[in-house]
Parts: sequence; C-alpha cells; structure tokens
Amino acid sequence: MKVDVLVDAFRARFDAEPEVVARAPGRVNLLGAHVDYSEGQVLPAAIDRAVWVAARRVPGAETRLAALDLGEEAVFLAAAPEPPVAERAGPFSWVDYPRGLAWALRQRGIDVPPIEAVFGGDLPIGAGVSSSAALEMAFLVAWERLAGFELSGAERAQVGRTVENEYVGVQSGIMDQFASVHGREGHALLLDCRSLEHELIPTPDDLVFLVADTGVRRALASGAGFNDRKSECFDAADLLRPHLPGLSTLRDLEPADFERLQHVLKPPLDGRARHVMTECRRVLDGAEALRRGDLDRLGDLMGQSHRSSRDDYGVSIEELDVLQEAAAGADGCYGARLTGAGFGGCVTAITSKAAADQVRLQTAAVFERRFGSRPEIHACRVGDGAGVVEAG
Ligand code: GLA
Repeated sequence: MKVDVLVDAFRARFDAEPEVVARAPGRVNLLGAHVDYSEGQVLPAAIDRAVWVAARRVPGAETRLAALDLGEEAVFLAAAPEPPVAERAGPFSWVDYPRGLAWALRQRGIDVPPIEAVFGGDLPIGAGVSSSAALEMAFLVAWERLAGFELSGAERAQVGRTVENEYVGVQSGIMDQFASVHGREGHALLLDCRSLEHELIPTPDDLVFLVADTGVRRALASGAGFNDRKSECFDAADLLRPHLPGLSTLRDLEPADFERLQHVLKPPLDGRARHVMTECRRVLDGAEALRRGDLDRLGDLMGQSHRSSRDDYGVSIEELDVLQEAAAGADGCYGARLTGAGFGGCVTAITSKAAADQVRLQTAAVFERRFGSRPEIHACRVGDGAGVVEAG
C-alpha cells in the first residue's frame, strides 16, 4: 500500500493531517503449526505485506475509524470499550480488533486517548497470514506514539494475544503478533513460545514465498475448530502428566515417552500429541537447515509438517491438500505447507525468484483442473516488523 494514498484518504475523510502512520506486517509460518499455544518452537517470517494506519489524537470521547478497503466506518469509546465479544449481543466485526486493543490496554492500566484513523493494507483477509495480528499491531504502534507510551516487543505481542484470547475469543498462541513485531527483512524468526527467546536466521536473498489461497474461509472469530484443538492438547497433557510429572505442555513430550504411553491417549488425542511432539522437532531441524542455507531440507520438513497437520492434527481440507501437493511438486519449488490455522486459507510454498512464475503457473493449473476456479497466488518476500512509518 502506498503511504500517500492512505494519508490522502485520511485528509479527505477527517479534513486534517495525521500525526502518525504505523505499519505492521503479516507473516508466513515456515514450520511450527499449532504448537505455539503448547509453548513449542515456531519458525515464522514477517512478509512484505502489511496493514497501515494513519491516525491523530482528537479531543472528546469518540474514536472514529475508517476501513479504506472495506469502505466501512466505526465509532467507539476508547475509554469505555464494549465488553468482550462473547459477553454481548451484536455481531463481531473488524472493529473488535482495535476496540479489543483499547480494552486489553485498559486491563494493563493503560488508558488510550480517542483517535481518528484510516487504515488499509494488502494482506489477504482471514487467509492464514495474520491479517488480524497485523491490524492489532499497527493500531498498537500508532496508539503508543500518539499517547506517549512504549511497550517492549514481547509486551506488544502479549497485548495482541490478550485481544484474541480474551476479547475476540480465539485461543491462539503468541506467534503471529510476535512475528509481526519482531520480523526483520531478510530473516526468519525462530521463537521459543515458552521462554520467548528468539533468533533471527538469515534467509537467502532470492527466497520467494508463494502464498496460494484456497478461497475457503473458516469462521475464525468464533474460534470453532481452533479452540477444540487447543482443548485437545491440554486434555492430552492432563492425561500424560500423572505418568510424566515433569510435563507441563505437549512441548515437553519426548518420543520414547510417547511410545511407552501412547495407550493413555485415545484417538484423536494420540495424533494431536504426536503432531506437537514431531512438529517441535521439525522446527529445530528446519532452523538448522536454514542456517546452512539448505532449502531442500527445509522444504522436505514443510511437506512433513503439512502431512502431520493433515493426518495427526486434523486441520487441513481438500483444497489445501491439492494446493500443497501441486506446489511441492512444481519445478523449482523447495516445499509447501498450509499456513496459519488451517481449515481453509492458504498454503505457503518456498521457491526462488527465478522459479516463482513457473511454480505459480503449475500450482494454479492443478487447482483449476480440480476445482474449476483459479486460485489467487501472492508472491511475497521477507519483510520488516511493525513500526512507525512517518511521524508528524
Ligand atoms: C493462528 C494462531 C496462531 C497459531 C496458528 C497455527 O495463526 O493465531 O497463534 O496457533 O494459527 O500455527
């Protein structure tokens, strides 16, 4: 998105100059599917697509927001945001992210002032590349600048997670917001979701992510499916703990213990546990492969991750499987897997600049033959984390 387009839209709508423009990117997740809320390790990368917010402080009580891409507006009281989605009547909408942010900051004792803002972006919405985390982090950065407070990266990510878990009602982990805040151009991010220790690992210069969209959207806002998976992980950990007192979450499960104790877990819990256990190992292997610049190995691990997400974790759908197989089998593609929560959304394939067009064409052709429609496939590069773009 062009910043001047956003600023012009702000001027046109509010007849004033914005005081700040903030930007926060989406992310792809190379490895580490559904392990963040079990405190496992993940390997995401911020991408060069983002949400941008142009904003200024205003007197009075009302916060007034305009969503450029949707042509919609909303008003709320930042000092007294409505209660969480589950506790009120009325539909869920995009405004629940910035409104939830005001609510979550109040929980931390931070009162944010009313603002006027216009926002827009170039992330596919609800497609598994963290458009909601980007929206939260962009508004957070803007509000920090306007109100004169500053949170650490980890605190920002935690506030975003509170918005999702306690306001919107999705029991997600911390990966998306963390990647949006801590991403760096030319690097993937290895994150330990328990300690929040993280390492930026350089990615090859010509690395391209192809984000291929099934066009299928899950009702993430209701948490359906997603929250069930989290409960299953916690149930499995509860059943294992009497035998493994040192186990806090499934992240702590060792292969030998799993072999010995598998009978304690009835399907589908055994598969859920196996996925988390094997996926955490794939993340560490994949990080090592990336350090060596071995994209073939990284791509292999992505294929394994996809199959484990499908067979053991139960978060794939046919459209994702077709895209994954088509992309992974295309000439010049290192590997592919579903990205984000699954149940719809996108597959991320890794390839080189030189091969990207070829992989895109081959992948789209297979999908079109099977489903009769052409999938949107976005070519993305590794991008920078959230920040202020322009301050007045
Ligand atoms: C969504 C959630 C993340 C993570 C992924 C699955 O993107 O927001 O916290 O659980 O799904 O890896």
